[in-house]
This record gives sequence, C-alpha cells and structure tokens, in this order.
Amino acid sequence: MDRLRVDLGLNSYDICFTDSFDGLAKELRAINAPEKLLIVTDSNVEGLYADELVKTLERDGYKSAVYAFPAGEENKNMESILGICRACIENGLDRKSMILALGGGVVGDMAGFAAAIYMRGIDFVQIPTTLLSQSDSSVGGKTGIDFMDSKNILGAFHQPRLVYINVSTLRTLPEREFISGMGEVIKHGVIRDNAFYAFLKENTAEVRSLDTDVLIKMAKRNCEIKAEVVEQDEKENGLRAILNFGHTIGHAVESSFNFKKTHGECVGLGMAAAAYISKERKMISEQELEDIESVLKEYGFEIRAEIDDPSRVYDFMQKDKKKTAGKLKFVLPLRIGEVMQTRDVTESEIFAAIGHISK
Ligand SMILES: NC(=O)c1ccc[n+]([C@@H]2O[C@H](COP(=O)([O-])OP(=O)(O)OC[C@H]3O[C@@H](n4cnc5c(N)ncnc54)[C@H](O)[C@@H]3O)[C@@H](O)[C@H]2O)c1
Repeated sequence: MDRLRVDLGLNSYDICFTDSFDGLAKELRAINAPEKLLIVTDSNVEGLYADELVKTLERDGYKSAVYAFPAGEENKNMESILGICRACIENGLDRKSMILALGGGVVGDMAGFAAAIYMRGIDFVQIPTTLLSQSDSSVGGKTGIDFMDSKNILGAFHQPRLVYINVSTLRTLPEREFISGMGEVIKHGVIRDNAFYAFLKENTAEVRSLDTDVLIKMAKRNCEIKAEVVEQDEKENGLRAILNFGHTIGHAVESSFNFKKTHGECVGLGMAAAAYISKERKMISEQELEDIESVLKEYGFEIRAEIDDPSRVYDFMQKDKKKTAGKLKFVLPLRIGEVMQTRDVTESEIFAAIGHISK
C-alpha cells in the first residue's frame, strides 16, 4: 500500500493511499486500536459506506458502533458535537477508545473535535471520503465547529493517529463536490510544486474520469505538500498560512453569495483574484495568470462570477478572523510553485481584483 509518514514527533502518523477498505484493520492493529470502535459519519455517507466498513472490520475481529449526524455544514455545530459525545458515553468509550471519522471535511472536523474534548482527548482516525478531505482537511490536525456565523471559530489542534484514504469512495461523490475539492488540489500546485501543477495539466482527463492510479498519485502528492507545510508549522504561526492562497477574497465571495456557491468554487475565484494582483504587481506574467485560469476552467471552475456589489465582498473581507492589527494577509504567487505572504495589498488593488473576477 502507498503510504506517507507525517513527522510531528510524538504526534506522528501515517497516511495510507488505496482503493478499498480491506487494508484498514491491519493498519488499526499497527496502532494498537482497541477491539471496539465508534464510527462517526453523516447521514449521506452512512447509507453509502458505514455497512461496508462495519462488515470489513468485523471480518478482522473489530466490533464497531455507528453514529451519524445530519449531513451539511449547517450541522457543524455544538449540538452535533454533543450528539457525538452522547454516543461515546452510550457506547461506553473510555480513555483508550478510538473514533473513526468516516466522511468529508465536516465529519473529520467534528469527529476530531469530539475526540479532542471527550475525556480530555481520545484517539481518532480519519477515513476521508470527499476530494477536499482526501487532499486537505484530513491532514494537519485542525478540528472544530462553526458558531455564531463564524466558521471554525471553536476548535482544537488534535492530530489523527492514522489517515486512511480509499480513493474509490470518490465514485459516489457528486460532481460539484469533486470540482470543489479540486480547488484545494490546484492550490497546492500553485503554492508549492510546479511539477505537480504540470501533472494536473497533463492528467485532466484521467483525474476527471477518476482513474484510480492517477487519483492515488494525486492524493499522495497533495498530502505530501500539506504535510511538509504542517511539519514546519503545526500551529499556523507562519508558513502554514500559505495554504490560505485564494481564501482571503474567496471566503468573502463565499459569504457575499450567502454560501450558495461551494467553498472550492469560491477558492477558485479567490485564486484567480490573487493571481491577478500578482500579475498587476509584475510578480507573474500575463501568461502565467492565463495559465492558472485555464487550469481552473479545465477542471470545471467558473473564474468569473456575478458580483453586483464589489463593496459587499470588500466589507466581508474586513470581518476576516485572520486579520491582525487591522491588516489582511494575502498569499500571492511569485511564480507557479512559489508564493509570498504580504499585508500591504491596498484597497484599490483589492477592488481591481474583485473587478477582474466579476462578470
Ligand atoms: N481541518 C482542516 O484543515 C480543513 C481544511 C479545509 C476545509 N475544512 C472543512 O471541511 C469542510 C468541507 O469539507 P467537504 O467539502 O468534504 O464537505 P462535507 O463533509 O460537507 O461533504 C460534502 C458533501 O458530500 C457528502 N459526501 C461525503 N463523502 C461522500 C461520498 N464519498 N459520496 C457521496 N457523498 C459524499 C457529504 O455528506 C456532504 O453532503 C468545511 O467545514 C471546512 O471548514 C477543514
């Protein structure tokens, strides 16, 4: 099985890349998982994969209970966390117990947060089933929930003991969710790895037709990039912020559309906007900007949106929780594969960038 070690001292863990659940029990044995497990999932993924996972684990001597909360970002809240904690108590989980998070980023963030606070912290394993969670959110240990209109405002750093990526789960993922996940994938190429970006350009058809080998290669390189960044800056004191490329304007666009567009769709627009600021500053060429936009388009992104009121987007940016001393941090490409962080982007540059991505 393809694997990758995330090196975080005592919090180190493996990421496995494969196309079935068959190898999971062996991986659980290797980390001394107890015989009884709690699978936390959402109402969509439960119907698709919970039975298969329970049966596969049963064959290898594991007993697992399943707890599902209603799917969707709107349920990423304290009520769902309390539901998970109730299931932990009802199933008799103790300090040595383990939660398996089966689902997308919402499941991973919430099961991880519940694991971080139940009995002051128990182990959990990520079994991501969306492209976004397989390429981004399952690695890095950020867990949490939304509260009072602020995304991920309550949470904890809690690293998983294992990440087990079964790329075949992507076959049931709605296309819009797949495209959305590609936003983070393309982001990784632009911020860190020109060769990976070229791989994405060369393999568009294979990725979009869900070729297993290509999906495994893609997931592995994504996780390597995310892991390299997290290993150098586990708690986001510096380098880790480059993962926010496309997110400064992207988040504000997401809010201005009242979350009718997916996160990835907005990150795609945000990357086009940030690349435009770089082009205007002559840090990248017109050709490089066009290249980034054409890769986004090839993967199904709209790189222009009907933004009727740019000042509404600007106002949402001012509420960004990553603002420090009144200044927003931008991540701007220096070339494809390298970015810089800056807090000196001016109001007029921001309005020009919003104008660039407006239809
Ligand atoms: N922790 C981190 O570092 C990090 C990073 C990026 C994003 N996130 C978080 O991730 C969340 C978004 O994750 P997401 O995009 O995976 O959303 P999600 O978990 O809501 O999944 C999207 C939809 O797909 C469904 N689904 C999941 N797997 C499926 C499958 N294999 N087949 C069919 N349907 C499936 C889900 O039920 C849901 O309806 C956000 O809450 C975001 O804040 C966290």
